[in-house]
Amino acid sequence: MSVYDLSALNKRFAIANQLEFKEGPGGLTVAEVTNAHAAATIALQGGTVMTFQPRGQEPVLWLSKFAKFVPGKSIRGGNPVCWPWFGPHPTDANMPTHGFARTIPWEVHRSEVLAGGKTQISLKLVENDTTKAQWPHSSEVQIIITTGPELRVELITRNTGETSFLIGDAFHTYFQVSDIRQVSIHGLEGCPFLDRLDQSKRNIQEGPVMISAETDRIYLSATSDCLIEDLKLKRRIRIAKKGSRSTVVWNPWIEKAAKMGDFGENGYLGMVCVETANAAEDVVRILPGGEHRLQATFSVEPLP
Ligand code: BG6
Repeated sequence: MSVYDLSALNKRFAIANQLEFKEGPGGLTVAEVTNAHAAATIALQGGTVMTFQPRGQEPVLWLSKFAKFVPGKSIRGGNPVCWPWFGPHPTDANMPTHGFARTIPWEVHRSEVLAGGKTQISLKLVENDTTKAQWPHSSEVQIIITTGPELRVELITRNTGETSFLIGDAFHTYFQVSDIRQVSIHGLEGCPFLDRLDQSKRNIQEGPVMISAETDRIYLSATSDCLIEDLKLKRRIRIAKKGSRSTVVWNPWIEKAAKMGDFGENGYLGMVCVETANAAEDVVRILPGGEHRLQATFSVEPLP
């Protein structure tokens, strides 16, 4: 049974002709946004934007046809939120990969229409006994999702305690591409990266990133926009970011995707994760009373 009361949510936060709360796949509660610019679906579990499609265009986010929409499990696709650590927990291998924010129910906090007709919804992370055991710090975490001609996501972490703490965070964004073998990723040229498939060995990126095998890299000191250039779809997805020093590029390729069980046979060909992150040595220290904002904006530019 859902932890949400749909009619109470709609009464408080629905916006006529723009935002409605519904029962989504697997019974997960979703916020469905439609406005003059785009359509988006947001699962309240994990604050995960599952779909984003500007009007008259192809979807920007990839959502696996075989995604499992199960309470307590991360959704394979869209924009899962990794928090308060990225990847394996730094000291305890029993903790969930990429933290717990992506698998727990978030609470709706606010919804509004912005100037120009964009729709904004703000969610708050709600702690429970399990999360408190995994994260014994006082913090407030919020995600603000703005659907317009572009999709903007902002994750705000506030330290409400007396001691500083370190966080890793990321928008683990899955982008839809025509065929990963014909796509190039720009904006990481010259950045150092840790190759997670080669004992995190440090390397330097030369030229654009092209993917023709399993790829799992953390680019460091990577603050520029990234561009996913897709000649077949005649478009470029721009990922502009603030408050992020790492970019993770991931594609599981054939064997790993087959093992994961929620990609489908050729799913890996239609996606690439370009993740707006603070990971590895780029983790962020937040002082008492301080906050950190991670922001990413995804937009589409036509290619000739
Ligand atoms: C990426 C990591 O961010 O996420 C990969 O760099 C990992 O190592 C991938 O395999 C998927 O993780 P998960 O937990 O969503 O299956």
